[in-house]
Amino acid sequence: MIFLEKVEKYIFHYPANVAIICCEFEGRINLMTAAWHTQLSHDPPLYGVSISPKRLTHDIIMSSKEFTVNFLRYDQSRLAAFFGKTSGRDIDKTNVFDVYLMQGKNVKAPILKDGYAAYECKVTDLRKTGDHTFFIGLIVGVHYDPNAFATVLNVQPTLYLGMDNYVTIDLSSKRIHDEKQVKDYLSKWVQGA
Ligand SMILES: Cc1cc2nc3c(=O)[nH]c(=O)nc-3n(C[C@H](O)[C@H](O)[C@H](O)COP(=O)(O)O)c2cc1C
Repeated sequence: MIFLEKVEKYIFHYPANVAIICCEFEGRINLMTAAWHTQLSHDPPLYGVSISPKRLTHDIIMSSKEFTVNFLRYDQSRLAAFFGKTSGRDIDKTNVFDVYLMQGKNVKAPILKDGYAAYECKVTDLRKTGDHTFFIGLIVGVHYDPNAFATVLNVQPTLYLGMDNYVTIDLSSKRIHDEKQVKDYLSKWVQGA
């Protein structure tokens, strides 16, 4: 392994599930691609996203204190590239090719109609994290396509590999490592010790 002490842009932790962050303030709707987002808490349900102050999305969320997190199937990967390579400062992204939005239920920010799932979030806290702002959102509603889930996700999601590369998962590679299996393994390991 090569060791680096100083890094600028680092991509070694990818792949990451791509999300489209939708926001709205005073009738202005915008959409942005994000790879830096994560679940934070079950109770209360919190979800966080890291957004650079350079983005129009940042300004809108600062004002509205709301956003939605939308997940794409792999056949929609070009939307991730499009929303991540264009700024709402230059164009109205809602007016370009096949983008279908619907109104959120508990937030004014829209939902991508044909994503496979979406979280509606209200900002409860934010932190400056280096050159980004980390927005912490309380999930106030979840949308999902029941056909996309068979207990767990059962469609191919859009994942980001860094540097304009996208990939997906092979669902036939799924393995289940349940608690029983882990306990069996542990007891064999203890016996063998
Ligand atoms: C795959 C991908 C992931 C991205 N992830 C993030 C992210 O997590 N946070 C961020 O601030 N920008 C991220 N970006 C960059 C923004 O999506 C991009 O700057 C976008 O043009 C901002 O749009 P806006 O100005 O309309 O808000 C990402 C771009 C791509 C292509």
